[in-house]
Amino acid sequence: MVGGMKSSIVSFRDYLPKKDAFTTELIFGLSQADKSIPCKYFYDERGSELFDQICNLPEYYLTRTEEFLLQEKAAEIAELLGPEVLIIEYGCGSIQKVRVIIDSLRNPVGYIAVDISPEHLRIAAEKLAQDYPSMEVHAICADFSNSFKLPRGLTRQRCVGFFLGSTIGNFGYKHAAKLLSQIAAHVGPGGGLVIGVDLKKDESVLFDAYNDASGITAEFNLNLLSHINSQFGATFDLNDFEHEARYNCVEGRIEMYLVSRRAHSVRVGENLFYFAENEKIHTENSYKYDITEFQALAAEAGFLIRGMWSDSNDLYSIQYFQRPSF
Ligand code: TRP
Repeated sequence: MVGGMKSSIVSFRDYLPKKDAFTTELIFGLSQADKSIPCKYFYDERGSELFDQICNLPEYYLTRTEEFLLQEKAAEIAELLGPEVLIIEYGCGSIQKVRVIIDSLRNPVGYIAVDISPEHLRIAAEKLAQDYPSMEVHAICADFSNSFKLPRGLTRQRCVGFFLGSTIGNFGYKHAAKLLSQIAAHVGPGGGLVIGVDLKKDESVLFDAYNDASGITAEFNLNLLSHINSQFGATFDLNDFEHEARYNCVEGRIEMYLVSRRAHSVRVGENLFYFAENEKIHTENSYKYDITEFQALAAEAGFLIRGMWSDSNDLYSIQYFQRPSF
């Protein structure tokens, strides 16, 4: 090749479950008295695009604040992580935010990208490999809430998980603790975790973040139905549903729903589901934490707090945890 070799990703592995497993899960959720659809269906190609747009919304303070903190504290975070780090990023999306940390690290050895959206993942990982030719870049297409294997044999001083975007908030406490334990197992003794955690705050700020004036969040929520239509031959009419997001202060979480505008039925494969007027499909939760509350959760997975950074309004936090080295 003229102009020298371009770096590309070292491996791309697909751990996505078979379509049958997806179908069973989907049918199960829609068969319950309180209907639900697993939130991973948000992220088809269109969904990933819409999510990128959500991240730029004026009301959606999460991404902006997280980026600001990562930028502002990059040197400090990099210092704590040390040299020759291997990064595993869970739900890496477009692989943009982590770059400011990579740029500050001393001789980072590798980067393992984990995401559920195959094409989006491949493109983002290839781009990273080209931009950082000295790092070994691997991509794993997986639902990180299930277990999967990491590539072996990468020598490093420390393995550090990155779990940004407050994605941990999309899991209930039990499930979140399990997920943190899986990350703890991946990074091993002495390994670390840099995690973005959205904080409890004024309810109107939370409400607006999930009910933007331009309607992108509504489009994102509804896109889940188009994804299911195209992947499972379902007959959802997007005009029959509307987006709802509200803060449940008892549970400390934003709850997202698709609300049926009228009584009607929808076919999913062989199954027919009846929706009453105003009946809801639960599509997502987004838990908000107090700082001490989150640290107690991480401690259950064996992670000890090593650093915590938040903005001046205490909207959002980046927290660094480490496993003891023995
Ligand atoms: N991790 C994001 C969050 O909890 C996901 C998200 C943002 C989301 N906006 C949404 C999920 C709207 C469903 C609908 O903030």
